[in-house]
Amino acid sequence: MKISYYGHSSLGLEINGKHILVDPFISQNPKAANIAIDSLKADYVLLTHAHYDHIMDVEAIVERTKAKIISNHEIVTYYANNKQFEGHAMNQGGSWNFDFGRVKVVNAIHSSSFPDGTYGGNPVGFVISAEGKNIYIAGDTALTMDMKLIPLFFKLELAILPIGGNFTMDIEEAIVAAQFVECDTIMGMHYDTAPYIEINHQEAHDKFKAINKNLLLLNIGESYEL
Ligand code: NI
Ligand code: MN
Repeated sequence: MKISYYGHSSLGLEINGKHILVDPFISQNPKAANIAIDSLKADYVLLTHAHYDHIMDVEAIVERTKAKIISNHEIVTYYANNKQFEGHAMNQGGSWNFDFGRVKVVNAIHSSSFPDGTYGGNPVGFVISAEGKNIYIAGDTALTMDMKLIPLFFKLELAILPIGGNFTMDIEEAIVAAQFVECDTIMGMHYDTAPYIEINHQEAHDKFKAINKNLLLLNIGESYEL
């Protein structure tokens, strides 16, 4: 399983030969100018919620790749009705076996509306199980006790958590989240894109190290092999 960081909350996953893009926000992120969005491969696009900084590049990518959208009912329906995009609707608590692996939809505490004001359903996170591993993609979320449910069902190899604060958890809360989900390797996301979510990298690394957890803050375009 290969996880590539495309800035903000945008990820590219390579699992079982399939390409999955998560929350693509690249063309409008000046920090991700090194990512050639027109050459990104996608068989699926996973969307955690409908905010612009998670869906900005969905239309361009899906029109080019014909990728299938996996998200909540409202988001999948929005793209089906407005763009005739193919999708697979899920909702919290649900799981489905795709050809790359199993996706479980878990709770996130946030909001979710499209830039035009259309209701975007509940924000969600995902647990992806494939190649004998489990990864948690939290989406935009506050710290929530619901995270404690995840290790009842999954032994996580990687948790991808927002750490930038202001809109989501900050470093302190992400540390507690890492303990709640019982995962020792954490990848940070949703930080440094704009001034109010800038973090001190050294401080973040030190604080995770102090509880014997490994924090990954990938450069934009960098990949992590799991
Ligand atoms: Ni959001
Ligand atoms: Mn966001």
